[in-house]
Amino acid sequence: MANAKVDWANLGFAYQPISKRYVANYKDGKWGSGVLTDDPTVRINECAGILQYCQEVFEGLKAYKTKDGRIVAFRPDMNAERMYDSAKRLEMPPVPKDMFLEAVDQVVAANKDWIPPFESGGALYLRPYLFASGPVIGVKPSDEYQFRLFGTPVGSYFKNGIKPITLCVSDFDRAAPHGTGHIKAGLNYAMSLHAYMTAHSNGFDENMFLDPATRTYVEETGGANFLFVTEEHKIVTPKSDSILPSITRRSLMHIAESLGYETEQRPVRLREVGDFAEAGLCGTAAVICPVGKVVDHGKEICLPSGMEKMGPVLTKLYETLRGIQLGTIEAPEGWIREIK
Ligand code: PLP
Ligand code: COI
Repeated sequence: MANAKVDWANLGFAYQPISKRYVANYKDGKWGSGVLTDDPTVRINECAGILQYCQEVFEGLKAYKTKDGRIVAFRPDMNAERMYDSAKRLEMPPVPKDMFLEAVDQVVAANKDWIPPFESGGALYLRPYLFASGPVIGVKPSDEYQFRLFGTPVGSYFKNGIKPITLCVSDFDRAAPHGTGHIKAGLNYAMSLHAYMTAHSNGFDENMFLDPATRTYVEETGGANFLFVTEEHKIVTPKSDSILPSITRRSLMHIAESLGYETEQRPVRLREVGDFAEAGLCGTAAVICPVGKVVDHGKEICLPSGMEKMGPVLTKLYETLRGIQLGTIEAPEGWIREIK
Protein backbone atom coordinates (compact mmCIF):
# COMPACT_ATOMS: atom_id res chain seq x y z
CA MET A 1 0.00 0.00 0.00
CA ALA A 2 1.71 3.17 -1.13
CA ASN A 3 1.22 6.18 1.07
CA ALA A 4 -1.11 8.72 -0.47
CA LYS A 5 0.03 12.30 -0.72
CA VAL A 6 -1.08 13.81 2.56
CA ASP A 7 0.14 17.18 3.78
CA TRP A 8 0.64 16.01 7.37
CA ALA A 9 1.63 19.46 8.64
CA ASN A 10 -1.60 21.09 7.47
CA LEU A 11 -4.29 18.57 8.29
CA GLY A 12 -7.59 20.12 9.28
CA PHE A 13 -10.79 18.24 9.95
CA ALA A 14 -11.96 17.17 6.51
CA TYR A 15 -12.94 13.87 4.92
CA GLN A 16 -10.68 12.16 2.46
CA PRO A 17 -11.27 8.58 1.38
CA ILE A 18 -8.51 6.18 2.38
CA SER A 19 -7.66 2.67 1.18
CA LYS A 20 -9.99 0.31 3.07
CA ARG A 21 -13.20 0.43 5.04
CA TYR A 22 -15.21 -2.25 6.89
CA VAL A 23 -18.76 -3.31 6.01
CA ALA A 24 -21.16 -5.83 7.55
CA ASN A 25 -24.85 -6.44 6.87
CA TYR A 26 -27.72 -7.41 9.13
CA LYS A 27 -30.44 -9.48 7.45
CA ASP A 28 -32.94 -12.18 8.44
CA GLY A 29 -32.39 -11.38 12.09
CA LYS A 30 -28.60 -11.83 12.18
CA TRP A 31 -25.30 -10.17 11.44
CA GLY A 32 -23.27 -11.50 8.51
CA SER A 33 -19.50 -11.47 8.72
CA GLY A 34 -17.75 -8.19 8.01
CA VAL A 35 -15.27 -7.58 5.20
CA LEU A 36 -12.89 -4.83 4.14
CA THR A 37 -13.67 -3.10 0.87
CA ASP A 38 -11.98 -0.54 -1.38
CA ASP A 39 -15.31 1.03 -2.33
CA PRO A 40 -16.28 4.19 -0.44
CA THR A 41 -19.72 4.30 -2.09
CA VAL A 42 -22.81 3.00 -0.30
CA ARG A 43 -25.58 1.64 -2.53
CA ILE A 44 -29.01 1.33 -0.94
CA ASN A 45 -32.69 1.15 -1.87
CA GLU A 46 -34.52 4.45 -2.45
CA CYS A 47 -36.88 3.62 0.42
CA ALA A 48 -34.16 2.62 2.92
CA GLY A 49 -35.02 3.49 6.53
CA ILE A 50 -32.04 5.81 6.79
CA LEU A 51 -33.28 7.90 3.86
CA GLN A 52 -36.92 8.06 4.93
CA TYR A 53 -36.89 8.06 8.73
CA CYS A 54 -33.29 8.84 9.65
CA GLN A 55 -32.58 5.58 11.46
CA GLU A 56 -28.84 5.96 11.97
CA VAL A 57 -26.31 6.06 14.82
CA PHE A 58 -22.58 6.64 14.70
CA GLU A 59 -19.38 6.99 16.68
CA GLY A 60 -16.11 8.89 16.49
CA LEU A 61 -12.75 7.74 17.85
CA LYS A 62 -9.09 8.12 17.00
CA ALA A 63 -6.06 5.95 16.30
CA TYR A 64 -2.54 7.34 16.80
CA LYS A 65 1.08 6.59 16.05
CA THR A 66 2.97 6.77 19.33
CA LYS A 67 6.46 8.17 19.87
CA ASP A 68 7.90 4.63 20.09
CA GLY A 69 6.25 3.60 16.82
CA ARG A 70 3.22 1.70 18.10
CA ILE A 71 -0.27 2.11 16.67
CA VAL A 72 -2.99 2.55 19.25
CA ALA A 73 -6.69 3.33 19.47
CA PHE A 74 -8.03 5.33 22.43
CA ARG A 75 -10.76 3.53 24.42
CA PRO A 76 -12.60 1.92 21.48
CA ASP A 77 -14.50 -0.33 23.89
CA MET A 78 -16.27 2.78 25.22
CA ASN A 79 -17.40 3.72 21.72
CA ALA A 80 -18.59 0.15 21.14
CA GLU A 81 -20.70 0.36 24.29
CA ARG A 82 -22.10 3.80 23.50
CA MET A 83 -23.05 2.73 19.98
CA TYR A 84 -24.75 -0.31 21.46
CA ASP A 85 -26.88 1.97 23.66
CA SER A 86 -27.58 4.37 20.77
CA ALA A 87 -28.75 1.50 18.55
CA LYS A 88 -31.11 0.19 21.23
CA ARG A 89 -32.72 3.63 21.60
CA LEU A 90 -33.43 3.78 17.84
CA GLU A 91 -34.74 0.17 17.68
CA MET A 92 -31.76 -1.03 15.65
CA PRO A 93 -29.88 -4.33 16.10
CA PRO A 94 -26.79 -3.32 18.12
CA VAL A 95 -23.41 -4.15 16.64
CA PRO A 96 -21.82 -6.76 18.93
CA LYS A 97 -18.85 -5.31 20.81
CA ASP A 98 -16.49 -7.93 19.32
CA MET A 99 -17.52 -7.00 15.78
CA PHE A 100 -17.06 -3.29 16.52
CA LEU A 101 -13.54 -3.86 17.89
CA GLU A 102 -12.71 -6.20 15.02
CA ALA A 103 -13.73 -3.45 12.57
CA VAL A 104 -11.49 -0.93 14.38
CA ASP A 105 -8.54 -3.34 14.32
CA GLN A 106 -9.01 -4.30 10.67
CA VAL A 107 -9.46 -0.76 9.35
CA VAL A 108 -6.52 0.63 11.31
CA ALA A 109 -4.24 -2.28 10.36
CA ALA A 110 -5.18 -1.98 6.68
CA ASN A 111 -4.59 1.77 6.55
CA LYS A 112 -1.37 2.23 8.51
CA ASP A 113 0.08 4.62 5.93
CA TRP A 114 -2.85 6.95 6.47
CA ILE A 115 -2.22 7.42 10.18
CA PRO A 116 -0.51 10.78 10.72
CA PRO A 117 3.05 10.55 12.04
CA PHE A 118 3.57 11.13 15.77
CA GLU A 119 5.32 14.46 15.18
CA SER A 120 2.37 15.90 13.22
CA GLY A 121 0.08 15.75 16.27
CA GLY A 122 -2.70 14.37 14.02
CA ALA A 123 -4.67 11.14 14.20
CA LEU A 124 -6.66 8.74 12.08
CA TYR A 125 -10.26 9.65 12.88
CA LEU A 126 -12.47 6.56 12.77
CA ARG A 127 -16.14 6.83 11.97
CA PRO A 128 -18.20 3.70 12.73
CA TYR A 129 -21.86 4.00 11.76
CA LEU A 130 -24.97 1.84 11.61
CA PHE A 131 -27.95 2.61 9.42
CA ALA A 132 -31.23 1.13 8.21
CA SER A 133 -30.54 -0.17 4.71
CA GLY A 134 -33.81 -2.04 4.15
CA PRO A 135 -36.94 -0.40 2.69
CA VAL A 136 -39.70 0.90 5.00
CA ILE A 137 -42.65 3.05 4.00
CA GLY A 138 -44.87 2.81 7.09
CA VAL A 139 -43.21 4.40 10.10
CA LYS A 140 -41.45 1.47 11.75
CA PRO A 141 -37.94 0.09 12.17
CA SER A 142 -36.32 -1.45 9.11
CA ASP A 143 -35.58 -5.19 8.82
CA GLU A 144 -32.13 -4.71 7.31
CA TYR A 145 -29.09 -2.73 8.48
CA GLN A 146 -25.53 -2.01 7.50
CA PHE A 147 -22.58 -1.32 9.78
CA ARG A 148 -19.60 0.45 8.27
CA LEU A 149 -16.39 1.91 9.62
CA PHE A 150 -14.06 4.19 7.68
CA GLY A 151 -11.11 6.34 8.65
CA THR A 152 -9.76 9.71 7.58
CA PRO A 153 -6.59 11.49 8.71
CA VAL A 154 -7.27 14.62 10.76
CA GLY A 155 -5.54 17.43 12.61
CA SER A 156 -7.27 20.11 14.62
CA TYR A 157 -11.08 20.36 14.61
CA PHE A 158 -11.14 24.14 15.00
CA LYS A 159 -9.20 26.10 12.41
CA ASN A 160 -7.12 28.02 14.95
CA GLY A 161 -6.03 24.88 16.79
CA ILE A 162 -6.24 25.46 20.53
CA LYS A 163 -6.83 29.22 20.48
CA PRO A 164 -9.84 30.23 22.60
CA ILE A 165 -13.13 30.46 20.75
CA THR A 166 -16.28 32.54 21.15
CA LEU A 167 -19.68 30.91 21.62
CA CYS A 168 -23.18 32.27 21.38
CA VAL A 169 -26.09 31.10 23.49
CA SER A 170 -28.38 29.47 20.98
CA ASP A 171 -32.05 30.27 20.54
CA PHE A 172 -32.50 26.76 19.18
CA ASP A 173 -32.46 23.48 21.12
CA ARG A 174 -30.36 20.53 19.97
CA ALA A 175 -32.34 17.95 21.96
CA ALA A 176 -35.79 17.53 23.46
CA PRO A 177 -36.51 16.64 27.10
CA HIS A 178 -36.75 12.82 27.19
CA GLY A 179 -35.56 12.78 23.57
CA THR A 180 -32.35 11.50 21.96
CA GLY A 181 -29.77 14.06 23.10
CA HIS A 182 -27.92 11.41 25.14
CA ILE A 183 -27.27 9.09 22.17
CA LYS A 184 -25.10 9.60 19.12
CA ALA A 185 -27.70 9.64 16.35
CA GLY A 186 -27.29 11.58 13.10
CA LEU A 187 -30.72 13.12 13.64
CA ASN A 188 -29.37 15.19 16.58
CA TYR A 189 -26.76 16.69 14.28
CA ALA A 190 -29.28 17.49 11.54
CA MET A 191 -31.22 19.32 14.28
CA SER A 192 -28.15 21.41 15.15
CA LEU A 193 -27.16 22.51 11.64
CA HIS A 194 -29.42 25.54 11.40
CA ALA A 195 -28.19 26.73 14.80
CA TYR A 196 -24.60 26.14 13.66
CA MET A 197 -24.99 28.11 10.44
CA THR A 198 -26.80 30.91 12.27
CA ALA A 199 -24.00 31.15 14.85
CA HIS A 200 -21.39 31.20 12.10
CA SER A 201 -23.13 33.84 10.04
CA ASN A 202 -23.23 35.99 13.18
CA GLY A 203 -19.46 35.58 13.63
CA PHE A 204 -19.41 32.96 16.40
CA ASP A 205 -17.40 29.75 16.42
CA GLU A 206 -20.02 27.51 18.01
CA ASN A 207 -23.25 27.40 20.00
CA MET A 208 -23.80 26.95 23.68
CA PHE A 209 -27.04 24.96 23.87
CA LEU A 210 -29.19 25.30 26.98
CA ASP A 211 -31.43 22.72 28.59
CA PRO A 212 -34.53 22.43 26.39
CA ALA A 213 -37.03 22.35 29.28
CA THR A 214 -36.13 25.53 31.17
CA ARG A 215 -33.36 27.19 29.12
CA THR A 216 -31.45 28.05 32.30
CA TYR A 217 -28.78 25.34 32.43
CA VAL A 218 -25.78 24.80 30.16
CA GLU A 219 -25.89 21.63 28.08
CA GLU A 220 -23.21 21.26 25.40
CA THR A 221 -22.27 22.40 21.89
CA GLY A 222 -23.19 20.58 18.68
CA GLY A 223 -20.12 18.33 18.96
CA ALA A 224 -18.55 18.55 22.42
CA ASN A 225 -19.24 18.63 26.18
CA PHE A 226 -18.24 21.47 28.50
CA LEU A 227 -15.65 21.59 31.25
CA PHE A 228 -15.45 24.55 33.63
CA VAL A 229 -12.72 25.34 36.15
CA THR A 230 -13.43 27.30 39.34
CA GLU A 231 -11.01 29.81 40.85
CA GLU A 232 -10.14 27.10 43.40
CA HIS A 233 -9.27 24.73 40.53
CA LYS A 234 -12.26 22.46 40.88
CA ILE A 235 -13.33 20.92 37.55
CA VAL A 236 -17.07 21.17 36.97
CA THR A 237 -18.99 19.54 34.13
CA PRO A 238 -22.74 19.86 33.40
CA LYS A 239 -25.07 17.04 34.41
CA SER A 240 -28.09 16.52 32.19
CA ASP A 241 -30.04 13.65 30.67
CA SER A 242 -30.01 15.25 27.23
CA ILE A 243 -26.27 15.60 26.58
CA LEU A 244 -23.97 13.03 25.03
CA PRO A 245 -21.91 11.11 27.62
CA SER A 246 -18.56 12.17 26.16
CA ILE A 247 -15.78 9.60 26.46
CA THR A 248 -13.21 12.42 26.43
CA ARG A 249 -15.02 14.21 29.26
CA ARG A 250 -15.25 11.05 31.35
CA SER A 251 -11.55 10.38 30.69
CA LEU A 252 -10.60 13.96 31.61
CA MET A 253 -12.58 13.84 34.86
CA HIS A 254 -10.68 10.65 35.75
CA ILE A 255 -7.36 12.29 34.81
CA ALA A 256 -8.26 15.39 36.83
CA GLU A 257 -8.92 13.29 39.91
CA SER A 258 -5.69 11.37 39.49
CA LEU A 259 -3.84 14.71 39.25
CA GLY A 260 -5.41 15.72 42.56
CA TYR A 261 -8.09 18.13 41.30
CA GLU A 262 -11.52 18.08 42.87
CA THR A 263 -14.25 17.29 40.31
CA GLU A 264 -18.00 17.74 40.23
CA GLN A 265 -20.75 16.81 37.77
CA ARG A 266 -23.82 18.95 38.45
CA PRO A 267 -26.32 21.19 36.68
CA VAL A 268 -24.52 24.41 35.68
CA ARG A 269 -26.59 27.58 35.33
CA LEU A 270 -25.94 29.90 32.41
CA ARG A 271 -25.80 32.78 34.83
CA GLU A 272 -22.85 31.29 36.74
CA VAL A 273 -20.62 30.82 33.66
CA GLY A 274 -18.97 34.20 34.28
CA ASP A 275 -17.90 33.04 37.77
CA PHE A 276 -15.56 30.36 36.39
CA ALA A 277 -11.84 30.92 35.81
CA GLU A 278 -11.62 28.72 32.68
CA ALA A 279 -14.01 27.03 30.28
CA GLY A 280 -13.45 24.57 27.50
CA LEU A 281 -15.09 22.14 25.11
CA CYS A 282 -14.02 18.53 25.05
CA GLY A 283 -14.56 15.66 22.66
CA THR A 284 -12.76 13.25 20.38
CA ALA A 285 -12.60 15.73 17.51
CA ALA A 286 -12.10 18.85 19.65
CA VAL A 287 -9.81 17.19 22.29
CA ILE A 288 -9.94 20.31 24.54
CA CYS A 289 -10.73 23.66 22.99
CA PRO A 290 -10.67 26.69 25.31
CA VAL A 291 -13.66 29.02 25.41
CA GLY A 292 -12.69 32.66 25.85
CA LYS A 293 -16.08 34.31 25.57
CA VAL A 294 -19.78 33.43 25.60
CA VAL A 295 -22.25 35.93 24.16
CA ASP A 296 -25.78 35.75 25.52
CA HIS A 297 -27.98 37.93 23.32
CA GLY A 298 -25.51 40.79 23.25
CA LYS A 299 -24.30 40.35 26.83
CA GLU A 300 -20.64 39.29 26.84
CA ILE A 301 -19.42 36.78 29.40
CA CYS A 302 -15.60 36.93 29.28
CA LEU A 303 -13.66 34.12 30.92
CA PRO A 304 -10.64 35.38 32.93
CA SER A 305 -8.37 32.99 30.98
CA GLY A 306 -8.89 35.36 28.03
CA MET A 307 -8.79 35.07 24.25
CA GLU A 308 -5.06 34.40 23.82
CA LYS A 309 -4.43 30.98 25.28
CA MET A 310 -5.84 28.02 27.17
CA GLY A 311 -5.89 28.50 30.96
CA PRO A 312 -3.39 26.63 33.18
CA VAL A 313 -5.69 23.92 34.54
CA LEU A 314 -7.15 22.96 31.17
CA THR A 315 -3.63 23.03 29.72
CA LYS A 316 -2.51 20.50 32.34
CA LEU A 317 -5.47 18.23 31.54
CA TYR A 318 -4.90 18.65 27.80
CA GLU A 319 -1.22 17.76 28.01
CA THR A 320 -1.91 14.73 30.18
CA LEU A 321 -4.64 13.42 27.88
CA ARG A 322 -2.49 13.98 24.77
CA GLY A 323 0.43 12.26 26.49
CA ILE A 324 -1.74 9.24 27.28
CA GLN A 325 -3.12 9.08 23.75
CA LEU A 326 0.27 9.49 22.10
CA GLY A 327 2.03 7.08 24.43
CA THR A 328 4.33 9.49 26.29
CA ILE A 329 2.42 9.17 29.59
CA GLU A 330 1.37 5.83 31.03
CA ALA A 331 -2.31 5.17 30.42
CA PRO A 332 -4.78 3.92 33.02
CA GLU A 333 -5.46 0.20 32.62
CA GLY A 334 -7.47 -0.63 29.50
CA TRP A 335 -7.46 2.83 27.89
CA ILE A 336 -5.14 1.99 25.00
CA ARG A 337 -5.75 -0.75 22.44
CA GLU A 338 -2.61 -1.58 20.52
CA ILE A 339 -3.16 -2.60 16.90
CA LYS A 340 -0.52 -4.63 15.06
N1 PLP B 1 -21.19 15.93 22.51
C1 PLP B 1 -21.54 15.78 21.24
C2 PLP B 1 -22.84 16.30 20.79
C3 PLP B 1 -20.66 15.12 20.35
O1 PLP B 1 -20.96 14.97 19.07
C4 PLP B 1 -19.43 14.66 20.82
C5 PLP B 1 -18.51 13.94 19.93
O2 PLP B 1 -18.46 12.76 19.90
C6 PLP B 1 -19.11 14.84 22.16
C7 PLP B 1 -20.02 15.48 22.98
C8 PLP B 1 -17.83 14.34 22.71
O3 PLP B 1 -17.88 12.95 22.90
P1 PLP B 1 -16.58 12.08 22.83
O4 PLP B 1 -15.65 12.64 23.84
O5 PLP B 1 -17.04 10.71 23.19
O6 PLP B 1 -16.06 12.18 21.46
C1 COI C 1 -16.43 13.49 17.60
O1 COI C 1 -15.83 14.25 18.37
O2 COI C 1 -16.02 12.38 17.32
C2 COI C 1 -17.70 13.86 17.00
O3 COI C 1 -18.41 13.01 16.56
C3 COI C 1 -18.05 15.26 16.90
C4 COI C 1 -18.30 15.67 15.49
C5 COI C 1 -18.85 17.04 15.57
C6 COI C 1 -17.08 15.62 14.64
